[in-house]
Order: sequence, then C-alpha cells, then structure tokens
Amino acid sequence: MTDEKFLKKSQQGELDAVPMYNALAKKFADKNPEVAEILKGMAADEGRHASVVKNISGDSSLRPKMLKAKAVPVLMNCIGKRTMFKIIAGQEYKAYDTYAPWIDKFPEIASVQADEKRHGDLCMKIVTLL
Ligand SMILES: [Fe+2]
Ligand SMILES: [Fe+2]
Repeated sequence: MTDEKFLKKSQQGELDAVPMYNALAKKFADKNPEVAEILKGMAADEGRHASVVKNISGDSSLRPKMLKAKAVPVLMNCIGKRTMFKIIAGQEYKAYDTYAPWIDKFPEIASVQADEKRHGDLCMKIVTLL
C-alpha cells in the first residue's frame, strides 16, 4: 500500500469511529452509565487518532461517514450486545496489527496503535459488564 493510501484509509477509519462510539455511548447512557463512559472515552481517543493521522497526511478534506454510527446500533439489536462488542474488539485488535508495519516510518502512530490494543481490551471488558 502506498503511504498516501494508508494515511487516507487510516484517517477515514479513525474519523468514522468517533460517531460510532458516540452513538453506542448514547444507547447505554441510561441503563449502563459505566459502559457509556468507556465508550465516550474511546470516541475521544478516536478523535485524537484522526488528528494524529491528519497531522501526517496534511489532508483536512476528510469528514466522518455516518454509516457505521447508524448501522452498528441496529446490528447490535439483531446479533446481541455481547456478540457486537466481541466483533468490535476484533476490529480494534486488527487495527493494532494494521498499524504495526507503519510505526517505523510514522513514529507518531505508535501511541495510536497502543490505544487500539487498549480499545480491544476495553471492548472485551464491556462484554463482562453487559
Ligand atoms: Fe483509533
Ligand atoms: Fe480504536
């Protein structure tokens, strides 16, 4: 993958994760505030990740796409909360792996990568809190 493609894909993914976690946080706000707080924290992290990647790419034209934010809460109703958060945990761990080969070239990504591992762990923690 070219640098440009990697940065664009990463930046878009980080941007899209912000409204997704916020939408999930909203869903848990009343019934499970502890889970909602974890999700809000992850949304904030994803926003920071987007700006880390933006500082490298210099591309300020990307905007969050709302598809995941809309689809994930609906999907969660169908497949169940625990299954949903296990899937999201898997995506977070996958993001950790995807970033791995780029750390040498873009050292700023290291803190983002570390967060993705932590996010995977937090999603698995959420599974135990449901
Ligand atoms: Fe992220
Ligand atoms: Fe993440």
